[in-house]
Amino acid sequence: MLSIKIQKRKSVFITGGTSGIGEALALKYAKDSLVGICGRSREKYEKSRVFNHPNIRFYQVDVLSSEYDDVINQFINQNSLNIFIANAGVGVRKKQDFADVKKHIEVVDVNVLGFLHSISKPLEYFQQQKIGHLVGLCSLSALMGLPGNPSYCAAKAFVKVYLEALTMDLKHKNIAVTSVMPGYIDTPLTKGNNHKMPFLMNVDLAAEKIIKAVNKKKEYIHFPKTFSIPVHLLASLPRGLRHFLLNKFVKYS
Ligand SMILES: NC(=O)c1ccc[n+]([C@@H]2O[C@H](COP(=O)([O-])OP(=O)(O)OC[C@H]3O[C@@H](n4cnc5c(N)ncnc54)[C@H](OP(=O)(O)O)[C@@H]3O)[C@@H](O)[C@H]2O)c1
Repeated sequence: MLSIKIQKRKSVFITGGTSGIGEALALKYAKDSLVGICGRSREKYEKSRVFNHPNIRFYQVDVLSSEYDDVINQFINQNSLNIFIANAGVGVRKKQDFADVKKHIEVVDVNVLGFLHSISKPLEYFQQQKIGHLVGLCSLSALMGLPGNPSYCAAKAFVKVYLEALTMDLKHKNIAVTSVMPGYIDTPLTKGNNHKMPFLMNVDLAAEKIIKAVNKKKEYIHFPKTFSIPVHLLASLPRGLRHFLLNKFVKYS
């Protein structure tokens, strides 16, 4: 007897899918999955590569707002949810002035509180279903404090450590967690950087690496290796030596 295996297409939600890494992930997932994305700006969405894609649903919403929970509930009710990618984040364009409290607060708001808020409903759903996959965008800058970038490094360190703890908490509940630690990726976030960005990586290649790792249910990935391995080594050096090297090589114009 001929047996036909029908595989239901996956449902993926990506916060911040209107540019950069989220946009590239959405496009790749949309080849065989139903994808939900969100972002604050509709204009950005309309100018993006994902605009009007038949398998991508856009929701104009801030991850910090209460409307965000309604959006996630609506998406889950209509499509269920297999993979949730906490990607939305903001960066810092120039060397951060430590007195620029407003900017520091914005970075912490979106990258820490926004991250926490964004994963809450998806995790609730995964726990009810007893299955799911949470993916979080951290950064190699989570590994140490970098001169000129205090709040971004600290915010990403929060995400990295939080996800590490969740990985252990959720493993026995059949919920996978993948922490993504990219180096420099060519996106609008890095466009205005006024410092060197060694081994800057193409965004579609970065998305490919993330999806491969998610498919294999890897817990921790970092890339490009030419940059991420030396950065991990640097992070493991004694503090004084690490600071000497950072002050010597990190320069802002
Ligand atoms: N690019 C890199 O080199 C790099 C390296 C390591 C880690 N990362 C991390 O990777 C993630 C994506 O970065 P990217 O380079 O792709 O940045 P990006 O091109 O600036 O994209 C950020 C996305 O997040 C959305 N977003 C920002 N704040 C939001 C909020 N409060 N609510 C909803 N959506 C929001 C943006 O849309 P709206 O502005 O319209 O809201 C946009 O769609 C970030 O978490 C970043 O920290 C990036």
